[in-house]
Amino acid sequence: MKHLLGIESMSLDDIHAILATAEEMHDVQHRPVKKLPTLRGRTVVNLFFEDSTRTRSSFELAAKWLSADAINVAAKGSSASKGESMRDTLTTLDAMGIDAIVMRHAGSGSVAQAAGWVEASMINAGDGTHEHPTQALLDAHAMLRHFRAHDLGTLEGKEVVIVGDLLHSRVVRSNALLLPQLGAHVTLVAPPTLLPPGVSAWNVDICHDLDAALPDADVVMMLRVQRERMLGGFFPSEREYTIRYGLTAARLQKLAPHAVIAHPGPLNRGLEISSAAADSARSIVLDQVSAGVAVRMSVLYHLLAA
Ligand code: CP
Repeated sequence: MKHLLGIESMSLDDIHAILATAEEMHDVQHRPVKKLPTLRGRTVVNLFFEDSTRTRSSFELAAKWLSADAINVAAKGSSASKGESMRDTLTTLDAMGIDAIVMRHAGSGSVAQAAGWVEASMINAGDGTHEHPTQALLDAHAMLRHFRAHDLGTLEGKEVVIVGDLLHSRVVRSNALLLPQLGAHVTLVAPPTLLPPGVSAWNVDICHDLDAALPDADVVMMLRVQRERMLGGFFPSEREYTIRYGLTAARLQKLAPHAVIAHPGPLNRGLEISSAAADSARSIVLDQVSAGVAVRMSVLYHLLAA
């Protein structure tokens, strides 16, 4: 693989290879001394035109623990804020002789477009409402580790219910592309106003009744209500949204005993997810964060060293 642009452009072999290496990287991540020499002499640039905590810091850690040099370039504080074009920013960084650019941008398709302009490997860290492929890979990695630790098998035959603001989500698209390839069945739950266009062609079921979907779930993945991308009234009020689609303390009772709760973060506590759910023993939210470093180490390894 030269670039990681989306789950859509990955083969199943690529997916299995990334997940297998992530298992090895997970062990490294939990050693007292985390450095591997694998990417010594290579340079990774994190180029973020949108805010991030988890993705940016875990890619930086991943690069450093593989002994690569890593620098962060945020749009705020770079020449992009003086009006420099995305293409000029990318070709400028590329001309410095770097090896990979991890890019987040509000434009859907922007990372694939950038791949045509630079010599470096491009890694999609979230492009608009299109894809967030490393998020889906880390979600799968976290689920697989949980199932294995609890003798629950693999993703084969599992029911993953993804709930929330699917219209503005890039995570849902990547997960809807990835999880069925790993044997899971995906049900999307959202109000009709928050479903993405074209969703009827996806390999998923669609439901508008969270209470009906919860009892069958092995994993409930709550997605953030993206207030910053909402220009119109997609639901009557936040209180109404929580009543219909929030994972409230009362709704926890509807889950099967073995079911777990996931959320890619950041969380809107009290809106799509209650603290009772986010902080419960069922929550794998922090396991997802941990999986993010292992998966991103694996991605850097496969793009730059394998
Ligand atoms: N899940 C996710 O992408 O989080 P950040 O926006 O903090 O990177």
